[in-house]
Amino acid sequence: MSYDLIVIGTGPGGYVCAIRAAQLGLKTAVVEKRKTHGGTCLNVGCIPSKALLHASEVFEEAGHDFPALGVMVGKPELDLPAMMKHKDDTVAANVNGVGFLLKKNKVDAFHGAGTIVAPGQVKVTAEDGSTQTLETKAIVIATGSDVAPLPGVAIDEKVVVSSTGAIALDKVPGKLLVVGAGVIGLELGSVWRRLGAEVTVVEFLDRILPGMDNEVAKQFQRLLEKQGIKFILGNKVSKVETAGAGATVSVEPAQGGEAQTLDADVVLVAIGRRPYTEGLGLEQVGVALERGRVVIDEHFQTNVPGIFAIGDVVRGPMLAHKAEDEGVAVAEILAGKAGHVNYNVIPGVVYTQPEVASVGQTEEEVKASGVAYAIGKFPFTANGRARAMRHSDGFVKVIADANTDRVLGVHIVGYGAGEMIHEAAVLMEFGGSSEDLARTCHAHPTMSEAVKEAAMAVEKRAIHI
Ligand code: FAD
Ligand code: NAI
Repeated sequence: MSYDLIVIGTGPGGYVCAIRAAQLGLKTAVVEKRKTHGGTCLNVGCIPSKALLHASEVFEEAGHDFPALGVMVGKPELDLPAMMKHKDDTVAANVNGVGFLLKKNKVDAFHGAGTIVAPGQVKVTAEDGSTQTLETKAIVIATGSDVAPLPGVAIDEKVVVSSTGAIALDKVPGKLLVVGAGVIGLELGSVWRRLGAEVTVVEFLDRILPGMDNEVAKQFQRLLEKQGIKFILGNKVSKVETAGAGATVSVEPAQGGEAQTLDADVVLVAIGRRPYTEGLGLEQVGVALERGRVVIDEHFQTNVPGIFAIGDVVRGPMLAHKAEDEGVAVAEILAGKAGHVNYNVIPGVVYTQPEVASVGQTEEEVKASGVAYAIGKFPFTANGRARAMRHSDGFVKVIADANTDRVLGVHIVGYGAGEMIHEAAVLMEFGGSSEDLARTCHAHPTMSEAVKEAAMAVEKRAIHI
């Protein structure tokens, strides 16, 4: 069997790449070793975590916010198996949807582990051990990433869990200890806190969400603390013992010092993810890696002609939409078009309550670049719609170049921040200024008016503060 393109891995990077290539007339196949398509994101990542975040948020609202709105439904009861079924049904609908889309676009799907035996040759080893070798003009590696382990700590997915175990617990842990105050720790920590767990997050650095704007992270931490999450910053977990039920966890100051011991029913290890290239045969064909990541040029090509790579397995943020856009870009390049990804405008969202959303540079990054900048901020307490919905936590921060007024970064903590951030992304994609944003009519009453007011505040002309 001979193809124009074989994509290894059908996560958001791989399946989107295959569909775009097929749309452009390339004879395309995918190889996937999981039973279902969709990769980490659809099977055990973005989609199941958002199903649980939504359901647990509704559970908490019913208990805490409904009475203040005059809606009396009594104390809500948790049916965890039903909540997990909602998550599983959501995953099934999404992964089946990808299977359907591949078929619709006439992409051949092979189930099994893909190995590159030579440029232009991919061997597929099925679960039963049978193999077949496919010929192709180009190969795209889209094999994603896997959980980064904590040295000396074994993940059993029952007591010591990764995100995969944490989205499938069969009861609410009394005490959940989260290692790492990154996106996974805060999202899944929020889920289980809302459902009744006492949640403590241990973070190596002296702040949460490294990489996010500092001021945003600080205010967000205060909001999470108000919700009951405890933080132990500047500390690391040095040992986890799991004799009997639960775990005993040793926590040490990052700079050295006396360790403290904490008990937990479940420990969630969420200290990052690492690129996944096992069994791909990269050493054999000479594809270069750097700190585990496949090295690519600006056209997504590795050092071996005809072998390309995208998504979590290459440099850049480990985000589904970044992988998707790279998938589209490389497919377009392979079809002779000008595929491109603008890495300066990739939004990032933490899907907690409130959400945190960000696009472009943080204030710390702008400061470090030496560019003179101006900032406009607007709090949701001054937004009518936010008050009407009792969602007035958080603020919008717009950072613009002080000389040209070009928007360099927008950061939002607030209800629905993950949806609001896209007007900033579109603006930045067009090289827009804070004045462009400030002069754009925004519907009233909406949360998005706070984005406009923050842009107006860059020139100190916000109306409602
Ligand atoms: P993956 O989705 O990891 O897919 C790679 C696929 O390749 C897998 O299906 C794997 O089985 C297959 N594969 C690997 N090796 C082989 C082989 N040799 N042969 C055949 N197949 C192979 N990102 C967001 O943007 N938003 C979110 O809300 C979000 N939430 C997340 C929540 C969690 C709990 C986790 C863990 C991650 C989350 N992410 C989120 C990150 C997101 O899942 C990844 O960035 C995204 O899945 C990367 O896509 P990918 O296509 O590069 O790889
Ligand atoms: P992360 O990189 O976001 O956070 C890991 C945190 O663990 C960091 O704050 C780090 O300082 C800390 N840490 C590292 N070693 C430690 C130690 N020994 N002790 C204590 N703390 C330690 O990684 P996370 O949360 O595991 O997520 C992995 C990836 O998945 C992220 O890169 C993210 O992009 C992606 N993801 C995205 C989501 C989204 O877009 N909403 C949701 C979930 C995951």
